[in-house]
Amino acid sequence: MKKCVFLLSILTLMLSSALADVQKKYQACVACHGAQGEKIALNRSKIIKDMTKADFIASMKGYQDGTYGGPMKAMMTGQVKNLSDADIEALADHVIK
Ligand code: HEC
Repeated sequence: MKKCVFLLSILTLMLSSALADVQKKYQACVACHGAQGEKIALNRSKIIKDMTKADFIASMKGYQDGTYGGPMKAMMTGQVKNLSDADIEALADHVIK
């Protein structure tokens, strides 16, 4: 029983640090996309919180490999280049409810 409680608290710790991590990563996006992803970045982007998770992930990966984007995609290329697939999924979960 004690062991179980111990494992559970480790798990909770791991989860909350993953959460803090994605919040930190999303800080880089707030200026353009808004605290909740509710803004049209630089009058150009979609409202990212209204995208589907699949579209969000596809567009982020597309910015990474240059296959996605409109006239202002250069704005995003720098934002996504250091993100892992796991980071992108965490960001999608964070922005899209
Ligand atoms: C300097 C401003 C800026 C920052 C910072 C920024 N973005 Fe963007 N984002 C834009 C613009 C402008 C577009 C539209 C670009 C285009 O023409 O394709 C865009 C597009 C997107 C799209 C695709 C939506 C669409 O219009 O097709 C997603 C998803 C996205 N951004 C997520 C993020 C995330 C997540 C971060 C943080 C890691 C971030 N952005 C940081 C300006 C920014």
